[in-house]
Amino acid sequence: MISPTRPTMGMEIAFDKEQEYPLSRVYIFDTTLRDGEQSPGCSMTTPEKLKMAAHLVDLGVDILEAGFPIASEGDFEAVDAVSKQYPWVQVAALARACTLDVERAARALHHAKRPRIHTFIATSDVHLKFKLRKTREQVLNDACAAVALARNYTDDVEFSAEDATRTQIEYLEQVCNAVVEAGARTVNLPDTVGYSVPEEYADLIGRIVRLLGDRATVSVHCHDDLGLAVANSLAAVNAGARQIECTINGIGERAGNAALEEVVMTMKTRHDRLPFETKINTEKLYGASRALTDIITFGPQPNKAIVGENAFAHEAGIHQDGYLKEKSTYEIMDPASVGVPESRIVLGKHSGRHALKQRAEDLGFHLTGEQLNEVYHQFTMIADNKKGLRNDEIAALVEQVTGRRGDPEPVGAQATAANTR
Ligand code: KIV
Ligand code: ZN
Repeated sequence: MISPTRPTMGMEIAFDKEQEYPLSRVYIFDTTLRDGEQSPGCSMTTPEKLKMAAHLVDLGVDILEAGFPIASEGDFEAVDAVSKQYPWVQVAALARACTLDVERAARALHHAKRPRIHTFIATSDVHLKFKLRKTREQVLNDACAAVALARNYTDDVEFSAEDATRTQIEYLEQVCNAVVEAGARTVNLPDTVGYSVPEEYADLIGRIVRLLGDRATVSVHCHDDLGLAVANSLAAVNAGARQIECTINGIGERAGNAALEEVVMTMKTRHDRLPFETKINTEKLYGASRALTDIITFGPQPNKAIVGENAFAHEAGIHQDGYLKEKSTYEIMDPASVGVPESRIVLGKHSGRHALKQRAEDLGFHLTGEQLNEVYHQFTMIADNKKGLRNDEIAALVEQVTGRRGDPEPVGAQATAANTR
């Protein structure tokens, strides 16, 4: 048992390392194993969390929130296991702003070399009145006491003002100032119910950034109830936030959290407008997304940005034609940059001759102009009533028209096979 007065963990890490980073550095706080895990169909066992943690570490997340130790034995065990397995990683554990939770989080982080205690309490009137049944003064005191207690265990304490975006601003400022005085190094302002819109959230974040100056890092944590979690997070970074809390595939409470892959790739792809750096190995994004899908009960929807099945698929003829001539006509990112093996040309009713000719060649058929016309004619008739044609169906059609078989081992067959995904 750790004595609350004895700072036993990770004091040596301090924050001096951060001074080496430029002001444009944005920290990626991954909460797939905590906020993500606490949503329907997403709960994970400790071995599953360890498996996922391996991907997150490989990806290069800055802070890995591994669980909410007071919530269950499993959560406690997972935080402990991740801390032991990845001693060089900054591991966070969540705790409500009360003694029991903070001490439990501290115990779970006992083996962590770089522990972060993340304590939170709601600050909006609606939460105070109906959920906590506490006054503003009581909440302020609980927040400061929890932060001060957590500082007995680690230098690295984060405070979250739950439902910050629906909190009266002067009170929120008072809470932020007070928790920083009490020792919080990171102040997180969650849009807990996904209610904010980008301009409004940026105003709020800018105001708190100006208030706290270099006394604390301002963090954002956005839920996607209105589909704005990523937009809000990025608007906040432009306003001075330097930590984004997010999850793989955007999993999380209700509609989820900001998707890690989307915030990271937006900053990378639109560096002209969002000149910020992360240390995410973006080539590992797709692998992390697939790993999560294998562990939980659902994957991203096909049209999900970055990691969805269709994110790099082209079906419309005009698009295919442009893409085959020059990829950048219809692709703003190289699929390899996010770990997607290749783009996909989907042959369906909107596809054109160029794509069909290319696919036939990939399958080992070199068609004359006349043959292509005939194959294309028959293809459009079939495709009109289908969702798309697989490679074996294309091959059968070409064979039927030309009366011959394709190459047994056609060049590019391997790549093309993936195109039937
Ligand atoms: O959404 C939220 O407010 C949270 C906090 C606990 C950070 O998940
Ligand atoms: Zn949340």
